[in-house]
Amino acid sequence: MADLKILGISGSLRKASFNTVALKTCAELMPAGMTMTYARIDDLPLFNQDVFDAGIPESARRLRAEIAAADGVLIASPEYNFSLSAALKNAIDWASRPPNQSWQDKPVAIFSVSQGPMGGARVQYDLRRILGQLWAHVLPRPEVFIGAAPSKFADGKLTDETTRKFLSELLVGFKAWIERMQVKK
Ligand SMILES: Cc1cc2nc3c(=O)[nH]c(=O)nc-3n(C[C@H](O)[C@H](O)[C@H](O)COP(=O)(O)O)c2cc1C
Repeated sequence: MADLKILGISGSLRKASFNTVALKTCAELMPAGMTMTYARIDDLPLFNQDVFDAGIPESARRLRAEIAAADGVLIASPEYNFSLSAALKNAIDWASRPPNQSWQDKPVAIFSVSQGPMGGARVQYDLRRILGQLWAHVLPRPEVFIGAAPSKFADGKLTDETTRKFLSELLVGFKAWIERMQVKK
């Protein structure tokens, strides 16, 4: 069977983003039979329906095509003021407009990394609410909240073994979730 194609999206545009590092680490931790590519969202213009209607910009067209082609989307999200970063919400919005809204029936897994002690516990529930109403299928569990990030990363690497184990478990669950959704289709 062909590998499951996972599209990784980091909600942080920061060069040294903990979320981006954790997302890239997931490529090492994935079970056999999954491969990951990464979307860029930093070149999307701010969503404007007039612009969309006049002709979807190339960057948004690319993102929509990447989501459509993926078997599953893995989102690493920072928490900004108890919710999503503007960049991530903007990306979700660009992919959400009909026709062929990209999130329809798409298996999605999320995790969050933050400097605060709660690891982005609040942003994940906003993400679930947004993606759920777009008919994405968001993996319910395990939930992975990576708090106190500076203590878990060093030299651009995720060094905390317990966190790596939590992400591995998320990825095993995500693989089973995608396979289950594919059987349902
Ligand atoms: C605008 C802004 C708002 C933030 N709000 C929160 C917050 O609500 N909760 C939290 O735990 N951290 C918050 N932080 C701190 C982030 O957790 C921290 O910047 C983290 O490193 C962002 O993820 P990144 O490393 O992937 O960029 C905020 C940071 C910014 C820039």
